[in-house]
Amino acid sequence: SRTISLAVIPGDGIGREVVAQGLKVLTAVLPHDVKLETETYDLGAKRWHATGETLPDAELDRLKNHDAILLGAIGDPSVPSGVLERGLLLKLRFAFDHYVNLRPSKLLPSAVTPLAGDPEIDFVVVREGTEGPYTGNGGSLRTGTPAEVATEVSVNTAYGVERVVRDAFARAQARPRRKLTLVHKNNVLVYAGHLWKNIFDRVATEFPDVTTDYLHVDAATIFLVNDPGRFDVIVTDNLFGDIITDLAAAVTGGIGLAASGNINPDGTFPSMFEPVHGSAPDIAGTGKADPTATILSVALLLRHLGHEAEAGRIEDAVAADLAGRAGAAARTTDEIGDALAARVSG
Ligand code: NAD
Ligand code: IPM
Ligand code: MN
Repeated sequence: SRTISLAVIPGDGIGREVVAQGLKVLTAVLPHDVKLETETYDLGAKRWHATGETLPDAELDRLKNHDAILLGAIGDPSVPSGVLERGLLLKLRFAFDHYVNLRPSKLLPSAVTPLAGDPEIDFVVVREGTEGPYTGNGGSLRTGTPAEVATEVSVNTAYGVERVVRDAFARAQARPRRKLTLVHKNNVLVYAGHLWKNIFDRVATEFPDVTTDYLHVDAATIFLVNDPGRFDVIVTDNLFGDIITDLAAAVTGGIGLAASGNINPDGTFPSMFEPVHGSAPDIAGTGKADPTATILSVALLLRHLGHEAEAGRIEDAVAADLAGRAGAAARTTDEIGDALAARVSG
């Protein structure tokens, strides 16, 4: 019999609420011969207030031993912005070399989109996860004075760009449409932009059956709204990928449906799965949070661990559940979790 050792980081705000539903559905979908062992890590705002810790090294070491990590969301208005985001979430992504941040966007039948017509949307964003402006390479001079100067340097290495670009080409090659779009801003960010474009063009020669395209990120936001069907796989840097995936979520049923995986493709470290959204302090505690994004992240987690059939069952359950949402009374976080758990086990 097989065992899944899962680390769970509920985090803050609605993170705790949606993770409970993710675990509910995970438990319901697993066949009896797969044993689930979970260990919950108490990290986030509460911990920081109590101890000043964000992610102690001993905890980081223990996290390494799991097959995967399920994270809700972190961040709280009572903690200075960036403390938990950098000290916990980004620390995990960097320490576990999650260089592929996988964010699929699919407009399911019955999902509500603000877009006109009935666009076909089925693309995946491969967002670089360990570099760019996220590395903390910057500083402030004369802080708080009228002469303050702040820098936030985007770090792009040939090694880091090539590995994520190669991963994106391989993913594009495995999909029916075999198309990869590089999104950057090489008309202004000329150094990083040219590094990305040169490596993209060089790796492209190894994938002659993949059609390639390039868009500046500002134009990409136009097409995500006006012509999302043109996208199959998108590869982009850490910050552009963050921004366009919130937009992608908004046009494919909303942020409550958007799932993600922080993948360490080499398998040296556990990959981490989480909804694209944050801790949503504006609705925390109200029962209004949609747990579907987390539940779909559980599907990505299962697929990553080789449980394809169970992943598919969760995705089918979500599609069926969405079909019943139009015109129906709004359900609570817990009710949606219950409904999906019932569907995957029945
Ligand atoms: P957010 O994603 O938390 O919220 C944006 C809007 O979307 C809010 O109106 C919120 O109510 C709504 N929303 C989000 N998830 C929803 C869900 N499941 N169901 C229904 N509505 C949902 O983004 P924000 O407000 O910019 O950030 C809040 C905090 O979360 C900040 O501290 C931020 O740093 C953090 N954050 C964390 C993560 C993460 O842990 N991965 C991601 C994004 C933001
Ligand atoms: C996300 C979030 C994070 C990011 C923040 C909270 C560090 O917005 O996962 O999309 O920018 O990557
Ligand atoms: Mn984001």
